[in-house]
Order: sequence, then structure tokens, then C-alpha cells
Amino acid sequence: MKKIFMTALLLMTTIFAGCGGSTQDKTSAPEKNSSTEKSSVEKTADTNSSGKKILVLYFSRTGEEYNVGNITKGNTAIVADLIAQKLNADKFEIKAAKPYPDSYEACTDIAKKELESNARPAFEKNIDNLAQYDTVFIGFPIWWGAVPRVLLTFLEANDLGGKTIIPFCTHGGSGLAGTEREIAEACPNSTVRDGLAIVGKQAQVAPEAVDKQVDAWLKNLGY
Ligand SMILES: Cc1cc2nc3c(=O)[nH]c(=O)nc-3n(C[C@H](O)[C@H](O)[C@H](O)COP(=O)(O)O)c2cc1C
Repeated sequence: MKKIFMTALLLMTTIFAGCGGSTQDKTSAPEKNSSTEKSSVEKTADTNSSGKKILVLYFSRTGEEYNVGNITKGNTAIVADLIAQKLNADKFEIKAAKPYPDSYEACTDIAKKELESNARPAFEKNIDNLAQYDTVFIGFPIWWGAVPRVLLTFLEANDLGGKTIIPFCTHGGSGLAGTEREIAEACPNSTVRDGLAIVGKQAQVAPEAVDKQVDAWLKNLGY
């Protein structure tokens, strides 16, 4: 598994070297999102301490994952829970209409093809009443040095204009890897603030260390 991931990292570096930091070509036709069904957010409270409505929006995967074995709660999901808890925010999980396989290797193959074709895989359910939030934390795992394409499908299908977006990711060594820029490109009328990168394994085995990183980041952002 390690070998696959190292190959992934190497290829990811090549992809980024090839992009030269420029905007990715979006010429391929987005896969139309089949779902028109709306889904309610998981509410923790009606307001948060700052009086503004905050949403924690995230995509995360369970199953066999890099460096952590088989997980029943995704690394990003763990961090999303923590942020939502600390800020008394609502939470919404983006799910792919066609779930990614549990096998790490099979998932990396699919994700690689999606990235290469700049695909827009459909998501399962859309969020209700996004307009009520002025700040949206967006969490995701790093996939091939980029955000999972299904997250882009979701962001492009919704209007986050005028909102403050705060990205966070979990990863196996890449860090944020330019994903703040990807999100800013998908949400051109939003303000994107400094993101947080957490090593995925830490989310599973080192909750105290993650807690400290999240606290320091939130403090820096003024929370
Ligand atoms: C398809 C796929 C591609 C990945 N590519 C990278 C990568 O390019 N760089 C990296 O640091 N980690 C990579 N990883 C590891 C994940 O980013 C990391 O394990 C993350 O914490 C998983 O989060 P999740 O459990 O919320 O899905 C990849 C994992 C998968 C499944």
C-alpha cells in the first residue's frame, strides 16, 4: 500500500509540475448531477458564539486508507466534527452518488482518472438553505495533490458568493498542496481564508495534537 501511495505522490508532483501553478483546464463537460433531492444539515445549535451562522461542509471516505488501515470514520470527518463542536456550527457531509470503493488501491485508481479527466462526479444529496450561512468551513482529503473532484461538483452546483470560506484538509504528507487556490477558483465570489492541513493519521490516533492545531488555527482566524 505504501508503494502505491508513494507512486501516487510522485505522480501528483508531476501533475502539479505540469500545471505550472495555473488554473486547471475545465473543458471536459461536467457530469450532470443526477440528484435534485435536498438534505437537511445536522444541527448542533441555531446560532454560534459570534452570532453568525457557520457551516462545516465536508467530504470524507471510510474503508482502507493510507497509513491507518481500515477506518470506520474518515480522517476529515473527525476534524470536521471537532471544528463544528468548537464553533457550535452546523455540519453537512457531501457524499458521492456512487460511493468510492473501500479498497485504497481501487479508490486511488478512480480518483486518478477523475483528476486526469477533470471529471465532475455526481453527489448524492444537496444542502438545504445554504443562504443562511455566512461562513463555510470546507473539509476534504487531499487526493492526488488536489481536492476530490466530487467536492468541485458540489461547490460549482451551489452559490457560495459573498460567503467566507475556510478550507481544511487531511493528508498523508502533501499538506494543503494548492487546494486553497482550487477552492477559490470554484468559488470566485467568496473570500477564502487561510486553510489548515492535518496529517490524516493524527486524526485517528492523536486527538490531543489535532485539538491543539485546530485551536491555534481558529485563534489565528479570530475565533
Ligand atoms: C484517492 C486517494 C489519493 C490520495 N492522494 C494523496 C496525496 O496526493 N497526497 C497526500 O498527502 N495524501 C493522499 N492521500 C491520503 C489522504 O489524503 C489521507 O489519508 C486523508 O487523511 C484521508 O482522509 P479521509 O479519511 O477523510 O478520506 C490519498 C488518499 C486517497 C484515498
